[in-house]
Amino acid sequence: MAQINPSILSADFARLADEARAVEGSDWLHVDVMDNHFVPNLTLGVPVVESLRKATDTPLDCHLMIEDPDRWAPQYVEAGAGSVTFHVEAAAAPVRLAREIRAKGARASMALKPATPIEPYEDLLGELDMVLIMTVEPGFGGQAFLDIMLPKIRRTRDLVARHGLDVWVQVDGGVSASTIERCAEAGADVFVAGSAVYGAEDPAAAVRGLREQAVA
Ligand code: DX5
Ligand code: ZN
Repeated sequence: MAQINPSILSADFARLADEARAVEGSDWLHVDVMDNHFVPNLTLGVPVVESLRKATDTPLDCHLMIEDPDRWAPQYVEAGAGSVTFHVEAAAAPVRLAREIRAKGARASMALKPATPIEPYEDLLGELDMVLIMTVEPGFGGQAFLDIMLPKIRRTRDLVARHGLDVWVQVDGGVSASTIERCAEAGADVFVAGSAVYGAEDPAAAVRGLREQAVA
């Protein structure tokens, strides 16, 4: 079953609680954490995640676009994240970090920027609950979907299958009504959508529409 994770990066940050509740019924709420070092943008940190946790029953899918995730990721689990994604390009010890996230009770996920291949990390898949394939350069919402990432989605899905693992394959960046079917066909099963959800007149209806398209 396809999962749709609205990204609050495209929401109104002055009304985060209302914006989170506007998409209740979605599988997860995608929370983009940016530190202005790993990416050229700055968003929010641990206290905001703690507050969001109290504001909605939707589980939080925290995507850390930050330096030193080895230090910070465990704090996002403590803040209430149900899933924590670190960028492998920034992690000093990804295996230790994935194990720590799981030991603290959250799902552990590894993200790849567009220029980062999956193959060097094949042996890490068994330590993970999800792999996030970025389909834009991380940092901003509303960018155009990179079609050239479709083969990497497929290769990731194939590696997961070859190892007989239950690892979700998430896509993030430019996912919309016009790109989600291609992502699903390539093997993605978790879809992050920012502007396609919060830019819609009715965000909850946009989530339902995307979910229907993803299984089509
Ligand atoms: C971008 C973020 C995405 C972003 C996606 O770096 O990781 O989660 O919110 O936004 P859209 O769906 O508008 O591309
Ligand atoms: Zn994201």
